[in-house]
Amino acid sequence: MDHDKRVDKYFATRTKGQNGVLKDILWAPNNSHTIMVGDNDYLNLVHHREVLTKQAEDLMNCTVYRDTVKSSVFLSDFDPHTALEQDVGAWYGKGCYFAQSGYAANVGVMHAVCTPGMHVYVDTFLHMSFYDGLASRRAKVHAFKTNDAADLEKKIAKYGPGLIIVESVYSTSGAFAPLEDIVRVKKAHNCLLVVDESHSFGLFGTEGRGLLHVKGLVNDVDYVTVSLAKAYATRAGLVFTKHALYVKENSYPYIFSSGLVQNDIVRLRAIWEVIKAADDRRERLINVATFFRSEMNKVAKVVGGLKNTPCAIVGVLMKDEEQLASLHRFLSNKGILAAPFIAPATSPDFPILRFTVHCDISMKDAVVVTQAVKEWTLQSKASAKAKL
Ligand SMILES: Cc1ncc(COP(=O)(O)O)c(C=O)c1O
Repeated sequence: MDHDKRVDKYFATRTKGQNGVLKDILWAPNNSHTIMVGDNDYLNLVHHREVLTKQAEDLMNCTVYRDTVKSSVFLSDFDPHTALEQDVGAWYGKGCYFAQSGYAANVGVMHAVCTPGMHVYVDTFLHMSFYDGLASRRAKVHAFKTNDAADLEKKIAKYGPGLIIVESVYSTSGAFAPLEDIVRVKKAHNCLLVVDESHSFGLFGTEGRGLLHVKGLVNDVDYVTVSLAKAYATRAGLVFTKHALYVKENSYPYIFSSGLVQNDIVRLRAIWEVIKAADDRRERLINVATFFRSEMNKVAKVVGGLKNTPCAIVGVLMKDEEQLASLHRFLSNKGILAAPFIAPATSPDFPILRFTVHCDISMKDAVVVTQAVKEWTLQSKASAKAKL
């Protein structure tokens, strides 16, 4: 079959509307949403005035230096990246380096850590970003049941020690990982451990250091990776490890793709300062996330139910992609933007409409969203009944 025919077949069969997933499922029909529950800016910092002012000043001063676009391997101690890495690393208690994104951070760590044939144990819900790196290093990947340390241990007993990879908070379900149990298994079987803290960094612990800090497990984890496009509201990634230099020198995204520019670093430092002092935002987020989950749990099938409290990610399980698109459009037309998750982000049988609250969503808005979900459910039940 030639390539064009394969593309045509894809669109003719992938969705019922035959326009593909972007047009038929993901895109919102409205561009003026007043309630944003569809991104990961948990602390509502994307337009923080002080941060924007510092960035703007830096851009205006660009005439006195040349902010070059280049591979990160050409950065030196004279670039502001290095000073920020040293400061953030000292604050966290581990060496660190910045990547261009969470995706690049995860791929890069896999490049540096994995060897051909290495046994790698991944939670079933692990983020896709790890898989490119695992495939290119020809690792032997074994998936264990999500958040099930006993299943992980069974698989390690069968195949032997290797690398374990988990997230501290799963991005589609909002489930918290049993980090203490995972660390126990890692130690008992002499494995390496990578933890992706993307959805907890900035939100939990003193000055937002994350869940590993809260649980006192930082020194038990070999590599901590973070997407800074969540609470840090910036396109960047971060890796904490005592082997930061080794990862830099072996990560293909670090070597072969251009790195963060100076203005990214200015933004990151400014947001880091805001986040360290953002206890009020963290408290508001936990309050509204807890309330929103309990309200949503009354009107929809929430992944994990109340068990995932106080996670700001609230996944609503949908019957199929058509239903998912229908609810997404209904909400968008009411000015509410959520995020549809379908395969390959979820299993094809379990599409999820993901709601993510931020700290400035009011309790009133939380009720507006859940009542709209209830209204859609009643309407779609009534129209299904009418069709019978
Ligand atoms: C757990 C997790 N890791 C990594 C990433 C990738 O992050 P980024 O968008 O910064 O590439 C994401 C984003 O979806 C994520 O949810």
